[in-house]
Amino acid sequence: MAEVKKIAVIAGDGIGPEVVAEAEKVLNKTEELFGYKFETEHGLFGGIAIDEKGTPLPEETLQLCRNADAVLLGAVGGPKWDNNPKELRPETGLLGIRKELGLFSNIRPAVIFDCLMEASTIKPEVLKGTDLIVVRELTGGIYFGEKFRRDSANGQEAVDTCVYNVSEVERIVRQGFEIAQKRRKKLASVDKANVLETSRLWRETVNRIAPEYPDVELEHVLVDNCAMQLLRRPSSFDVIVTENMFGDILSDEAAMLTGSIGMLSSASLGEGSFGLYEPVHGSAPDIAGQGLANPIATILSVALMFRLTFGYEDAADSIERAVKQVLDAGHRTADIAADRTKALSTVQMGEKILQAMTK
Ligand code: NAI
Ligand code: MG
Repeated sequence: MAEVKKIAVIAGDGIGPEVVAEAEKVLNKTEELFGYKFETEHGLFGGIAIDEKGTPLPEETLQLCRNADAVLLGAVGGPKWDNNPKELRPETGLLGIRKELGLFSNIRPAVIFDCLMEASTIKPEVLKGTDLIVVRELTGGIYFGEKFRRDSANGQEAVDTCVYNVSEVERIVRQGFEIAQKRRKKLASVDKANVLETSRLWRETVNRIAPEYPDVELEHVLVDNCAMQLLRRPSSFDVIVTENMFGDILSDEAAMLTGSIGMLSSASLGEGSFGLYEPVHGSAPDIAGQGLANPIATILSVALMFRLTFGYEDAADSIERAVKQVLDAGHRTADIAADRTKALSTVQMGEKILQAMTK
């Protein structure tokens, strides 16, 4: 008997519950096909938690996540809560949950599906074969450094400071190496070591620990060059590891290689194998409740969970194969359909993927 894995399921707001419902069916199908066992428990989070519990991140939801092996999250937010004070905003819950769960990296795959290449603005011959992951540091760097204003001879000046210590760099870089080891064994470490001191410390740290991963081919890439190479030779990248702000920008750039926001999965990881998995997209209030949402990003987030937290490679392969097969067969939700009148609903797309899953 397979060990029972506990998954905290947090559907959230807007299209969150719609896409998460399809992802849960995929979990059930995996149990059926592969004999894995999941125990799912649902928690309130985001706007719905504000309405029902008076806080975006109730203590019982946090406890549920802490007791779980992994978290599956839909999306939070919506116009209803946009004018709330900061402590009563869904986004505050997002920052809070990452911090409370000790999540220090954000993992964003960018995978090209051949049959969707026309959705991208980049030429097919450049995109072909692209399958990369951006590993972004989440807790340090210029976003969290000391910031202030002061007077100067030339008027007011503003200061943002970028700080990284060796252990922060080391833990994220190790994660980059370990993910690369499970893939095509290539790591691009991105920095600005020709200019920034934090980048020089970053690069020294990478070089110091690299000998522990002799099977991984390492390249150092300056961030400006990386931005160019992502457009010129995206298929040559396997895993990209970088600090917070560079990762923010590069992960959005990499995402847009692929075309649609409804297809992009992500993970936030901490120490050990624990992770929070969620689609990159938000709660899409403009289409919520209409059965129009593409569930693929959330379904692929389950595949990512299987790979990174549970090591269930067979089940992850099964999901990714099914998604590819369904797309190859021409099935589309409205966001990726050329002809929207023939588009499938959220539930119909979920059904197609379930039917295509095999052992
Ligand atoms: P969004 O990602 O929710 O929507 C952007 C556009 O993409 C919309 O036109 C939407 O209809 C479309 N879209 C998104 N996901 C889709 C899907 N699965 N299938 C089909 N179409 C899809 O971003 P937006 O509009 O900036 O934010 C809406 C709300 O979501 C805001 O309250 C925002 O704060 C929140 N948000 C939450 C995130 C999270 O929970 N991690 C991340 C981003 C935004
Ligand atoms: Mg961003």
